[in-house]
Amino acid sequence: MRMPRAGRLLLATCLGSLFVLVLYFQNITKPEPAVRTESTPGKSRRSPLQTLYNGDQSELAAQRSLQGRRELLEQACLSHTRKRQVLSPEDLKHLIVDDKHGLIYCYVPKLCTNWKRDLMVLTSDGRHVNPLDIPPTRRRGGSPRTLSEFTVPEINRRLRDYLKFVFVREPFERLVSAYRNKFTRSYNTAFHKRYGTKIVRRNRPDPEPGALEKGDDVSFPEFVQYLVDPRTQREEPFNEHWERVHSLCHPCMIHYDVVGKYETLEPDARAVLRLAGVEEALQFPTSGKSTRTDGNMAARFFKHVSPFYQKKLFNLYRMDFLLFNYSTPEYLRTR
Ligand SMILES: *[C@@H]1O[C@H](CO)[C@@H](O)[C@H](O)[C@H]1NC(C)=O
Repeated sequence: MRMPRAGRLLLATCLGSLFVLVLYFQNITKPEPAVRTESTPGKSRRSPLQTLYNGDQSELAAQRSLQGRRELLEQACLSHTRKRQVLSPEDLKHLIVDDKHGLIYCYVPKLCTNWKRDLMVLTSDGRHVNPLDIPPTRRRGGSPRTLSEFTVPEINRRLRDYLKFVFVREPFERLVSAYRNKFTRSYNTAFHKRYGTKIVRRNRPDPEPGALEKGDDVSFPEFVQYLVDPRTQREEPFNEHWERVHSLCHPCMIHYDVVGKYETLEPDARAVLRLAGVEEALQFPTSGKSTRTDGNMAARFFKHVSPFYQKKLFNLYRMDFLLFNYSTPEYLRTR
């Protein structure tokens, strides 16, 4: 019942980078016409959705596992969500739209650091831009469009016609990764100020003045305490780096065609690329810089969290475990 983990090779390059690589190639070999009508993503090929649902034999096996995930998600939604809400455009802020390729993806932070940045390149029309030359902030041409920026009929048309996908990760691995990145790296001063100082003020019995001011030494148990504190979400929504995928991507209301997983990034990325019709140009970067093995990372951090808080935290992230078929981590001491 466990995700394959220790020692497994993970691509150092994230899915987003793959897209860029592919499209970079495509732009060189097959220049796109300068003007294209909005409603025809890629005339020369089937739309991603057609590819998904009328796939040929060789695609069947891959499709079966994707379909299994879709069905599991649907079942989990039926049994665990009470009533259907209606989405407002505000709920669609994390859905990034690529009109050129007929794609919608829900952006989940802390899967891949460069993912969002890379989409800039994906959506930029026909320009040859090396993604590595674009600094993560302060880029030209603005952010990719999100579904929330469109009118309701435009939203509905895209939801109907485009291939929708989301990539998820084991919730606690993602959470620990967010904690490590935002609270233990000295350069993340904005997060220390914004969240760290608050956490120290609220949860530390006898804080040093320096810690109160800088908020740069928040421990993982303190972070957990902050997350499960009801005041936290009453005051403001969770930051997107620790917000649940369930709340970011609304997987029970948006019917995702592909649910990709970080744990199976390579085959899932291939599947999405194939559906997006860009796999032919694919040059897979097989010799990644690093092979990260983070399967045991969460276990190490959770050792220092009391069973009481482990249980509360699990309840908080429960939907993400259920909807995306992640089993309860064995290291949890919740009973
Ligand atoms: C759900 O997870 C289990 C255990 O990891 C796995 O055997 C099963 O195939 C998964 N189901 C789907 C539909 O992905």
